Amino acid sequence: MELPPRPTLFDFHGVAMTKYFTDNWVNIQSFKARPDDIVLVSYPKAGNTWVSYILDLLYFSRTSPDRQNSVPLHERVPFLEISIPGFPSGVDELNSINSFPRIIKTHLPVQFLPQSFWEQNSKIIYVARNAKDTVVSYFHFDRMNKAQPEPGDWSSYLQRFMEGKMVFGSWHDHVQGWWEKRKSSSNILYLLYEDLIEDTERELSRLCSFLELAPSTDLKKEVEEKSLFSNMKHNKMANGSADEVLDFKISPFMRKGKVGDWKNHFTVNQDEQFNEDYVKKMRSTDLHFRTVL
Ligand code: A3P
Repeated sequence: MELPPRPTLFDFHGVAMTKYFTDNWVNIQSFKARPDDIVLVSYPKAGNTWVSYILDLLYFSRTSPDRQNSVPLHERVPFLEISIPGFPSGVDELNSINSFPRIIKTHLPVQFLPQSFWEQNSKIIYVARNAKDTVVSYFHFDRMNKAQPEPGDWSSYLQRFMEGKMVFGSWHDHVQGWWEKRKSSSNILYLLYEDLIEDTERELSRLCSFLELAPSTDLKKEVEEKSLFSNMKHNKMANGSADEVLDFKISPFMRKGKVGDWKNHFTVNQDEQFNEDYVKKMRSTDLHFRTVL
């Protein structure tokens, strides 16, 4: 289907957004959470797809094995705030799910999460990734995603990232906002992409104990194997190729899956500038990221 021209960014209650994530705002904000919902939150490009696939396998690979081969991941784990004309909205998709738990993807900053999730005490998993790899991944994603604003060239993109002029706003505010919230809520598990890469088995155990799941050794092995980057990349139901707004001729969705790819993009100058700005914006937090392993 023919997509309209790329959307533009605008300020939405202090956060840069596009209409595709704000047009359905009233329905998003009045969304009714169910007690067993699992909310998977991240700033874009932090590994949301990876963790959503892990969750889907943990909950459904034994009870609904067909779902793995026939339903694209973005339909199994709907994106709460998305609403692109011609496609079902995330809210409608979520409301039509009869299986449980519902696994719900969102990129909303903490202050925008619909109230109902807090009232229902929903389990929330936040995934964060270091800023440098995030901005590189986001750049390539915006190049190939026709529903995102024009990315422009790399150096102007990097500048805009530092200024928080990205869809879903400032990375610095997003990761810190959820990190602070986690301190007062035992229902938030904060995962780091770098930790997942370093030791998937360990992080899978943390995830299962948070969710009070006790998967068999077989299932754990299966989840680890199937969610490997190399396997997901070739899995048509999990690699984004079923998503019509993505143009794989420009860049694959499953691109590198590494920690440290930023080194292939940042010049020495850009790195210095970025670090200087980073220290200022992250001065007051005890949240730390690794940019190399
Ligand atoms: P790169 O562009 O650096 O490769 P999101 O799903 O939040 O949009 O994040 C996408 C990023 O996660 C991409 O990063 C993608 O390759 C990476 N990713 C997805 N699945 C992965 C996996 N199984 N292992 C490691 N990285 C993965």
